[in-house]
Amino acid sequence: MGLWDDMKVLYEVNFKSIRGNTHAERLDCFYAPQASLYDGFREKFLHGRREMITKLPLEPGAIWIDLGCGTGSNLEYVAEKIPTLKHVYLVDLSASLLEIAKKRIAHHNWTNVSILRDDVSKCLLAEAFADIATFSYSLTMIPDWFQAIALAQRMLKPSGVIGVADFYVARKYPDPGRAKHSRWLKAWWKYFFARDNVMLNEDHLPFLERHFQTEWIEELQRTIPYIPFPKVPYYGYIGKKVGESSSSN
Ligand SMILES: C[S@@+](CC[C@H](N)C(=O)[O-])C[C@H]1O[C@@H](n2cnc3c(N)ncnc32)[C@H](O)[C@@H]1O
Repeated sequence: MGLWDDMKVLYEVNFKSIRGNTHAERLDCFYAPQASLYDGFREKFLHGRREMITKLPLEPGAIWIDLGCGTGSNLEYVAEKIPTLKHVYLVDLSASLLEIAKKRIAHHNWTNVSILRDDVSKCLLAEAFADIATFSYSLTMIPDWFQAIALAQRMLKPSGVIGVADFYVARKYPDPGRAKHSRWLKAWWKYFFARDNVMLNEDHLPFLERHFQTEWIEELQRTIPYIPFPKVPYYGYIGKKVGESSSSN
């Protein structure tokens, strides 16, 4: 992907207003003009997806639901494992990104991957049927993210695994051992991403930690293309379902 393609995406992201009466309409207003360039550009700044996805226990026969899957690009990180899985469900609301996912499935000739256009904060595919549920850079775009996590938890089998990668900001007083971010850094990145309806949140990581048994966390900061400073905070998280949660913290 060259400079010209990057400029086209940056124009869409920075100068076009997002319009629409529903969440689905707003997502497609944002993504449709850049769908064909999505993978090339996002590969450069949606950090930590490969690290999280390749750490998942994708055992032969497993069922994986990727929630807010976009173009389904996460499957490329583990492409050799896909035919060994029982089924992969790719769920997203954006028709334009799911068109790319459809082409990817056809290209690989994957017969065990299905696409569903739905709102992941409203759809329950079935109770306790999945081994793995993932949200990669989707939680920050889902208004009812807590409901999306609750539904993912219900869809997971007992001791099923959730994997998340996303941008975030730390709480003012983070849990012991968790990263701290200056208030300027938090204010800047919240403002920067909110223009595109990407809502960086202090509570995503603590919420995951309260509702799952944490297996792995990585909190890092890296620059994004064309913005050399400051670095944006992102995390990778893997946790195990441990029965019904009692906390709503
Ligand atoms: C930044 S993209 C990430 C896509 C993909 N997971 C990746 O890593 O490239 C966020 C995705 O979340 C989807 N999304 C946002 N809100 C959603 C919702 N309520 N239900 C389903 N998908 C949603 C968007 O359509 C978009 O595909």
